[in-house]
Amino acid sequence: MTAEILDGKAAALRLQQTVGAGVARRTGAGGRPPELAVVLVGENPASQVYVRKKRSQCEEVGIVSHAHDLPADIEQETLLALVDELNAAANIDGILVQLPLPPHMDAQQVIDRIDPAKDVDGFHPVNMGRLALKLPGPRSCTPRGVMTLLEDAGIVLAGKDAVIIGQSNIVGRPMAMELLNARCTVTICHSRTRDLEAKVRGADVLVAAVGRPGFVQGDWIKEGAVVVDVGINRLESGKLAGDVDFDGARQRAGWITPVPGGVGPMTVATLLANTLDAADARDPVY
Ligand code: GUN
Repeated sequence: MTAEILDGKAAALRLQQTVGAGVARRTGAGGRPPELAVVLVGENPASQVYVRKKRSQCEEVGIVSHAHDLPADIEQETLLALVDELNAAANIDGILVQLPLPPHMDAQQVIDRIDPAKDVDGFHPVNMGRLALKLPGPRSCTPRGVMTLLEDAGIVLAGKDAVIIGQSNIVGRPMAMELLNARCTVTICHSRTRDLEAKVRGADVLVAAVGRPGFVQGDWIKEGAVVVDVGINRLESGKLAGDVDFDGARQRAGWITPVPGGVGPMTVATLLANTLDAADARDPVY
């Protein structure tokens, strides 16, 4: 079997167009465009790339983005004061603080400070809780983007055995909730998991979010499985590689995401969707 490719680039483009149309509907009805504050602390090269993409794609769909680039040695209180200011700003619909923050900072305290209604990352405990309870609210961009990608491909999830490798707050945990809400039977694996290979071998749906290139071997993949690779690892050669041995896994999977061009573009497009949703919820235009 050779897997079909889950083309995140194409699906992200479709989502961008939908968001663009939603923004145009707002402005065409006399409303204001959504506005997103994008906060970047320090000069982490990967974060700089992601933030640049987020800002430029906002512009493409008509979302106004406000750049807040802060030095790496900024004090926690200064960042908290900026979040307070953005929470109070009537024109700001979404606040995104790019992670990771420098090691001297407390990221959770910053996330906790963001108004849940403006939390377009879906990282605030209130929004994670709403997801866990299957209530509507902002949903984290990468897991929501993965769900959109699978829905777009017409993949049926109810009743499937899903295995997630990784227990991070950004991907693993909200991804588990998303798949549970889609009525999968979910296993979350992590560094203390016993016999990871056997668990992966049983997965109808596998989501790998480990951060180690080629960590999942191709022959671990169940025939016909859906393989979602969240890893974006820069190799010494400069090339990008996922967490899954793509060439090996492709021989066995039914569906597979490439890296690059799989989950990455969906994360960014989902941020746009979350920002439009936040604007529509805060300031509806009829
Ligand atoms: N760092 C890695 N992924 C993300 C994300 O989705 N949002 C933010 N704010 N930071 C990240």
